[in-house]
Amino acid sequence: MTKEQTWSQRFESALHPAIARFNASINFDIELIEYDLTGSQAHAQMLAHTGIISKEEGEQLIAGLDQVRQEYRQGKFQPGVDAEDVHFAVERRLTEIVGDVGKKLHTARSRNDQVGTDTRLYLRDQIQQIKNQLREFQGILLNIAEKNVETLIPGYTHLQRAQPLSLAHHLLAYFQMAQRDWERLSDVSRRVNISPLGCGALAGTTFPIDRHYTAKLLKFDNIYANSLDGVSDRDFAIEFLCAASLIMVHLSRLAEEVILWSSEEFRFVTLKDSCATGSSIMPQKKNPDVPELVRGKTGRVFGHLQAMLVIMKGLPLAYNKDLQEDKEGLFDSVNTVKACLQAMTILLESGLEFRTQRLGEAVTEDFSNATDVADYLAARGVPFREAYNLVGKVVKTSIATGKLLKDLTLDEWQQVHPAFAADIYQAISPHQVVAARNSYGGTGFAQVHEALIAARAQVSQESE
Ligand code: ARG
Repeated sequence: MTKEQTWSQRFESALHPAIARFNASINFDIELIEYDLTGSQAHAQMLAHTGIISKEEGEQLIAGLDQVRQEYRQGKFQPGVDAEDVHFAVERRLTEIVGDVGKKLHTARSRNDQVGTDTRLYLRDQIQQIKNQLREFQGILLNIAEKNVETLIPGYTHLQRAQPLSLAHHLLAYFQMAQRDWERLSDVSRRVNISPLGCGALAGTTFPIDRHYTAKLLKFDNIYANSLDGVSDRDFAIEFLCAASLIMVHLSRLAEEVILWSSEEFRFVTLKDSCATGSSIMPQKKNPDVPELVRGKTGRVFGHLQAMLVIMKGLPLAYNKDLQEDKEGLFDSVNTVKACLQAMTILLESGLEFRTQRLGEAVTEDFSNATDVADYLAARGVPFREAYNLVGKVVKTSIATGKLLKDLTLDEWQQVHPAFAADIYQAISPHQVVAARNSYGGTGFAQVHEALIAARAQVSQESE
């Protein structure tokens, strides 16, 4: 191996250099260093508190770890592959700084409970940051929605024109998805925030440690009840990856809509120069790279979830080195979700504009008020299915004659059914069609106003 043997005297010869590189995680688990230092300081404090080491030794360890932190932040401490992983790197540097007492830090601890502690502290922090980003994203959706309650947009099923909508209602659908994402992360947090520290290598320890004490110092809500489970559980990471995957599902659905909306075929939004790019050959192009990248990056997060499930499947208790493979996918998922949330928030806030005039025209040029004609008759006593069939025929002949429903004369309507009166034109105007869908949770303007009030209250109340 390298300069100094990291593990026990049992080993006579050094690791093959390629195997040392293969085995090492320092290149990626350096991401955990701040949490490793915090975890080690809590452990040192507990060792002193329980009398396992002296008070002075505890203080020396904590001060030494502070120094490692400073050196790291100043870029002076940059451990290499010879350190194997962040845990060995920190312990080694600590011992260089404080001398032999540094060698006491690892009393009553294993890297197995240590790495589990670090990963949970990291993820707890990141989840809070993602939750805050979700709140920002929701806030922007609400701002746009509030300005566009009466802006109409075609609504689709099967990507075919279905019924017109309030644009605010459409955006509030994404607000609700983000709300579930936020709540899901809160729920995942409850299982992330459990301390494995003190589980040792797998079986606990012979020392009179106080696991509740370190858990309290590190603001964990609880401690693992079983040491084998504590060191080998990665459910919390899988749960996070599920939540992250769903965030990406939601972002990529919105991304896809923005891509469609910005196309010449839809022309519902204009992309601003701040969030679009050009083509190297076609001078007229303005490309929706931001939503395309969000849509594309979704795949890697799903992949990391799948990888983590496969890593865990069939893994015997307790710690196995396979578990070192939990980190890169987790870190990449965290970074991807954060970057995508930020990009989509910027895109909504300042990178696109809804073409409200074009949207207003779009809802007048189709048959998406056909249900309302059927509803009109049904409200006047005609059984709905009968009304539906009558209107189907009207649509068929209108298509053949190149007319829309609003173009039919009252005579023509009354030939279809005598119940039609002059108020049919008002009933099938897009604004009325939307306004009339006033059932709870529907797109009627009165409902949307209520939904906006409820949404505002939701984000301001639960912003823990
Ligand atoms: N670098 C290791 C990991 O990320 C730390 C734990 C190593 N434990 C062990 N028994 N080799 O999982």
